[in-house]
Amino acid sequence: MSDPLATLSPSLRAALAGLPLPLLAHCRRVASLAAYLARRHAVALGQTPDDIAPKARRAGLVHDLARAWSGQELLALARELGLPVGEIEARLPVLLHGPVGAALLRRDYGIQDEELLAAVDCHTTGRRGMGALDRLLYVADKTEPGKLAGDPELARLRRQAEEDLDKALLGLLEHQMAQIRRRGGLLHPASLEAAAALRPAPSQPS
Ligand SMILES: [Fe+2]
Repeated sequence: MSDPLATLSPSLRAALAGLPLPLLAHCRRVASLAAYLARRHAVALGQTPDDIAPKARRAGLVHDLARAWSGQELLALARELGLPVGEIEARLPVLLHGPVGAALLRRDYGIQDEELLAAVDCHTTGRRGMGALDRLLYVADKTEPGKLAGDPELARLRRQAEEDLDKALLGLLEHQMAQIRRRGGLLHPASLEAAAALRPAPSQPS
């Protein structure tokens, strides 16, 4: 297959080509896994494979556009772009790389695909009521082959994503929140809301 970067505009291609090589390699692996999972789950997601798979690949390629910037740079960009900066983002500005990346894709690279922008925006924290592309990108970002070494739970969730994307997504959100709790960090409300929306409702006594 030809280089997936070739499907992007020259300016976006140039921006991605300027990322640190390990980050660009991560983006390529996420793109490949997101497109694979998109084809596998297209029907369950109410999509056609030929529509959702290229979108998932594009979302994977561009999702970390802003990941290489420092916390200070991300805070400055978030202010310049008029993005909300909550208490958690102020303490952990790396969380802003999704929203900042989405806003830059819109402002500087002419991307108008709202589904893609939303998926990039929420790929670190998740959000309530995640759409098809949000789910594919989140799962692919957390379970691409470069992330699995030394974490058997992630490897298990990657296998689960073959059969049940939503169970894997919920498991990944819970896994990420458990790690943050162990470190004594703050849970992002968007992650809590994403997980709550995916948990099956408790069965009612009849
Ligand atoms: Fe990211």
